[in-house]
Amino acid sequence: MTTFATNQDLDPSRLRQAFGVFPSGVVALAASVDGELVGLAASSFTSVSLDPPLVSVSIARTSKTWPDLRRAAHLGVTVLAAHHGALCRQLAGPVEHRFDGVRASVTEAGAVTVDDGLAHFDCSIYREVEAGDHVIVLLRLHAVNHTADQNGGPLVFHRSAFGRLSPG
Ligand SMILES: Cc1cc2nc3c(=O)[nH]c(=O)nc-3n(C[C@H](O)[C@H](O)[C@H](O)COP(=O)(O)O)c2cc1C
Repeated sequence: MTTFATNQDLDPSRLRQAFGVFPSGVVALAASVDGELVGLAASSFTSVSLDPPLVSVSIARTSKTWPDLRRAAHLGVTVLAAHHGALCRQLAGPVEHRFDGVRASVTEAGAVTVDDGLAHFDCSIYREVEAGDHVIVLLRLHAVNHTADQNGGPLVFHRSAFGRLSPG
């Protein structure tokens, strides 16, 4: 039987640990803004709706990149592959080096995708919903593609560490 202690202090580190039990994939969310590549890694990506086609990401309100990223006409989402652990850290690290050595493609509308990702989405912002210390960004899809080659499967983020799916 599950029992909950009463009057729990739901401090951020306790919440982060509990949320981290839930495994997720990781995406690169990126765009070209004023001629510069801007973007970040996000594990909060979720598919939302087929009609209209929508996905979402939750972005921390402290993000310094989001105010630039949201100015792009289109944004790119790339589902990262298992071998992208280092790239993921780079995309979460110092802004000036996030795209160093990254093979990326840019659409005319500014969506930026990582070439060897497992799936690519060309999106624009549909709605932003304030949600506590994050903003839930609903993205409308304009084009999608995914590789038949699984490329080692997706990058998995679980309990603050990277892993991969083991063959079932
Ligand atoms: C595995 C992983 C997942 C992340 N997921 C998110 C996320 O879903 N939302 C978010 O706002 N930041 C997320 N981050 C942090 C961002 O990638 C980035 O480091 C953060 O936004 C700070 O950079 P900024 O101020 O340029 O936005 C994640 C980082 C890592 C390593």
